[in-house]
Amino acid sequence: MEKRIIIIGGGPGGYTAAIRAAQLGAKVTLIEKEALGGTCLNKGCIPTKAFYRNAELVNNLKASADFGIGLSGFSLDAGKMQERKDGIVNQLVNGVAQLMKANNIEVINGKASLEDAHSESLKEEALKKVKITLEDGSEKVVEGDSIIIASGSHTFVPPIKGADLEGVLTSDDIINFKEIPESLIVIGGGVIGMEFGAIFNSFGTKVTIVEALPSILNMVDGETVKRLNPMLKKKGIEVHTSAMVKSIEKTEDGLQVKVEGKKGELLLEGSKVLIAAGRRPNVENLNLEGAGIIYDRKGIGTDKGFETNIKGIYAIGDVNGKWMLAHAASHQGVEVAERIMGIESAGSTLIPNCIFIFPEIASLGATEEQLKEQGVNYKTSKFLFGANGKALALGEGEGFIKVISDEENRIIGVHILGPHASDIIHEAVPIINEKLKVEDVKHMVHAHPTLSEAFYEAVLGLNNEAIHLVPSRRK
Ligand code: NAI
Repeated sequence: MEKRIIIIGGGPGGYTAAIRAAQLGAKVTLIEKEALGGTCLNKGCIPTKAFYRNAELVNNLKASADFGIGLSGFSLDAGKMQERKDGIVNQLVNGVAQLMKANNIEVINGKASLEDAHSESLKEEALKKVKITLEDGSEKVVEGDSIIIASGSHTFVPPIKGADLEGVLTSDDIINFKEIPESLIVIGGGVIGMEFGAIFNSFGTKVTIVEALPSILNMVDGETVKRLNPMLKKKGIEVHTSAMVKSIEKTEDGLQVKVEGKKGELLLEGSKVLIAAGRRPNVENLNLEGAGIIYDRKGIGTDKGFETNIKGIYAIGDVNGKWMLAHAASHQGVEVAERIMGIESAGSTLIPNCIFIFPEIASLGATEEQLKEQGVNYKTSKFLFGANGKALALGEGEGFIKVISDEENRIIGVHILGPHASDIIHEAVPIINEKLKVEDVKHMVHAHPTLSEAFYEAVLGLNNEAIHLVPSRRK
C-alpha cells in the first residue's frame, strides 16, 4: 500500500526528505509556515554567501594595485547588494517549489502541530494526524503513516540588558542591512559571528568580536584558530576572548557594550551590535509535550536512525540539535525517507564543516585535541599554501592544510585554513569515508597547478615524501 508521509518544515532537511520519499513512491505532504527553503535559503547559508562574494570582490579590488591594476576608486551600494541577494534567494526558493510540484509533493502553507498522546492516532500502527492552522486561521487535519519533524532552529538572544535596543540585531535582521555600518560589535565568536564579522570588515566596517570562551571558533582545530588570529588582527578585526557581555546601552552616537574581560571592564562603542550567541531548536508550538515526544532545549531526542521515542515520528536537522548544518539536515532527510520506505540507509556521522571567512576554514574528521583526549596515537603533516603555485598566483598564499593519520597510516582528519578550503575539503570526504591510507592516495595524480596539490603534498608529508617541503619541515 502507498505510504503517506507528513513532513513538518520545508528547509533543506524537510524538502530533501520530501523529494527522496516521493522518488521512492510515497505520497508526501509538506507543511511550511513561511517560505520554502527554510533558514538556509532565506536567511542563512545562501544570503550570507551572496554577501561573502561581495566581500571577496571588495578584497580583490583593495588588492588591485598588487596585481598591477590601477583603480581610481569604487563604492558600495547596499541596496544593489540586497537586490542581488534577493534575486539569488528567489531563484532557489522558486526552484524548490518547482521540484515539489514535479515530484507531486503536496505543499501546505500553515503551522503544524501534533495530536495529543492519548489520541488513537499516535498509537503504533495507527495513522498519525497533524493539525494545520492555515494562513486564514482555519484548521485542517492531515494523516500519514509517518511524520518527519524538520522544524529547524531560531536565533538565541541571551538575557543581556539592552538586547532589545534599536540597533541590536540578530542574524535575521542584519541579513537585510540597508546600509553598511561604520562599526559593528559582534557578541559571539562562533560561525555566524565570524562570518558576518569577516563580511563587514571587508566592507570597511570596524568590527569587534566579543567571545565568552577562551577562544573564538571553539569547535575548530586549535592550531587553525591560532594561525587565524594574527590574520584577523592584520585585517583590523579586534577580538576579545574570555569576555562576557554584561549590558548594552544607547549613546548619542550609537551603542555601548559593557564587557567583563580578562583585564577587567571594557567599554566598546559601536554603531550596531550583532548578537550571534547560538541558535536553538524550534521545539515550540508543535505540541511535542502533548504528543509525549521527549525533547529539551537542545532539541528533540532521537535514536541513531533519527526516530523519536514515538515509533514512526522522526526528527531531522537543526531541531534534533545534533549538527545544525544544512548539509547534515539534508543527509538525515534522505536517510530517514529511505528508512521509512524500507531501505536500510547507510548513515554518516562524518560531516564536513566549512566557515566562510577570509581565508576560509574547512575541516573533516578528528582534531588533534579530540585525539589527545581519546589517547589515540596520531601523526600530522602540514603543507603551507605559501609553497603552492596556484595559491600564490591567486594572491592567497596564506594558510595551510593539515592532515592527520592514525597508527595504521589511515587518514582520519583534515583541517584547512586557506583559499577555497570549502571546496578542497571534499578531497578528504571519500578518503576518510573509505578509510584510505597515505599509500592509497599517493598514486592519485593531482593536476598542476591547482590548490588541490597542497592537499596531496600534505598527505605525502605523512610518509615524509612531500616534494615541495624542505626536509627540516618534515616530521
Ligand atoms: P555558535 O554556538 O557556533 O557560537 C556562539 C558563540 O557565542 C559561542 O562561541 C559562545 O561561547 C558565544 N557566546 C554566547 N553567549 C555569549 C555572551 N553573552 N557573550 C559573549 N559570547 C557569547 O552559534 P552561532 O555562531 O550563532 O551559529 C549557530 C549554528 O549555526 C551553529 O551550529 C553553526 O555551526 C551554524 N552555522 C553554520 C554555518 C556554516 O556552516 N558555515 C554558518 C552559520 C551558522
